[in-house]
Amino acid sequence: MMTKAKIGILISGRGSNMEAIIAAARADDCPYEIVLVASNNPEAAGLATARAAGIATFAHPHTGMKRAEFDQLIDAQLRAAGVEYIALAGYMRILSEAFIDGWAGRILNIHPSLLPKYKGLDTHGRAIEAGDPAGGCSVHIVTATLDDGPVLAQAEVPILPGDTPESLADRVLVEEHRLYPATLASYIRSTH
Ligand code: GRF
Repeated sequence: MMTKAKIGILISGRGSNMEAIIAAARADDCPYEIVLVASNNPEAAGLATARAAGIATFAHPHTGMKRAEFDQLIDAQLRAAGVEYIALAGYMRILSEAFIDGWAGRILNIHPSLLPKYKGLDTHGRAIEAGDPAGGCSVHIVTATLDDGPVLAQAEVPILPGDTPESLADRVLVEEHRLYPATLASYIRSTH
């Protein structure tokens, strides 16, 4: 039997991408298993979802801690769990350079825009405002510059007349849930 790569997922909120990755990992031929879900927000709804799926969780508020100090705490948890790859899934914290260096080429993120367009926040509103014909999402390797690492895969959805940031986000999210688990699998197959 092949050895599955051990994944840690970092979340801050709802965790619907995390849920899609957990669901995909149930397949026998999936090259990864999720060993830890960690959060900077103890109230993140996704933590309960992960626990219900039988996955170990770790949560600690980042408030009052230096960025590097908080990242070291998360790093120690990930390493203790044997994590080999990290998937950021709605993790709303910028990671310190030291953390990213320690996991070079092994952190992926999903961003709700067609990168290099619209790094940062309010991606859907900005795409609509610009009159773009399409929005979408990108899975990329995380480097020290925010939303900037090499793009591994993208999915595009049309922007329709009357779209709001919310209606576009809903349509893009459907694609995120397909794209992220699949891209994670192919990336791991080619690098593990
Ligand atoms: C997603 O739109 C993702 O692209 C962005 O944050 C959102 C997280 O949603 N980075 P969820 O927590 O995965 O439901």
